[in-house]
Amino acid sequence: MDPNRYERQARFEYFRRRFRPKRSRDLAIHRRTVGLPRTRIPSDSLHEFVARTLNPKSTEHLLDLGCGFGAAARYMARTRGVMVTGVTNSVTQCRIAHRESALDGLAPKPDFRLGSFDHEIEGVFTGAYAIESLVHSSNLVATLQHIARALIPNSCLLVVDDYWPNKGLENPKLDTVAWGVHEFWSHNEIVVSAESAGLIPEMVIDLSDNVKVSSKLLRGLVGAVPDPSVGAASLFATQLNFWKTQAQMHSMIECRQQLYIATLFRRI
Ligand SMILES: C[S@@+](CC[C@H](N)C(=O)[O-])C[C@H]1O[C@@H](n2cnc3c(N)ncnc32)[C@H](O)[C@@H]1O
Repeated sequence: MDPNRYERQARFEYFRRRFRPKRSRDLAIHRRTVGLPRTRIPSDSLHEFVARTLNPKSTEHLLDLGCGFGAAARYMARTRGVMVTGVTNSVTQCRIAHRESALDGLAPKPDFRLGSFDHEIEGVFTGAYAIESLVHSSNLVATLQHIARALIPNSCLLVVDDYWPNKGLENPKLDTVAWGVHEFWSHNEIVVSAESAGLIPEMVIDLSDNVKVSSKLLRGLVGAVPDPSVGAASLFATQLNFWKTQAQMHSMIECRQQLYIATLFRRI
């Protein structure tokens, strides 16, 4: 995807988060979970779910793959006292992540780095997580190999992402719709790719029911998208290249209503 277009989207997303009261404090980009399984976590926070599942000691150094504005890394530092290095391929996100964690006065202060998991990842880490980011990988096998090489043996990688359900629905090409997502991986694809990189699945938790929006809300969301051929607001939306048509937006949201899974891998 054209990096300039990506940067435009990152900046737009920052302002959208910043001025939405419920999100303004953490800037998390992932979808809000509506009550994760109570037996596994006490709160409805995805960050808490990740922290509980990885359960890092304060001496650990975690890798946040596709760290966005650094919300999860700041949460880990604040609640678990761990060092986190976040990687994002967005200049805007990297800059804002640095700034927000400096404002928080966190110690250890998370580090953020401009980079891509499509390439070798510098450093050695005792654990890693990827929240709604591996869906962006253009080559899942290579990406998982880069991640595995950056992890010490016996450490864990937690991936929380959307997957294509193989239900006979057409898996749409999405790179023209939003955020450079080409198409969704199936869960089996990520498991097979991870295994070939030496990452063995240990736990799979289907979180789909925790992120579903009601059909009424879905209709409202889609209906709220302006027709790109009409009016100033629609011109704005089209300039941002979020969605060009209501049909595209519908297919994006529909895909993201299918499977949302947390998978814990162990590096052998
Ligand atoms: C939907 S956002 C999720 C952000 C964050 N994990 C969160 O939960 O708030 C996807 C993230 O993946 C990052 N990303 C996409 N492709 C990437 C790549 N090839 N290398 C590193 N980061 C990437 C984007 O910059 C963005 O930060």
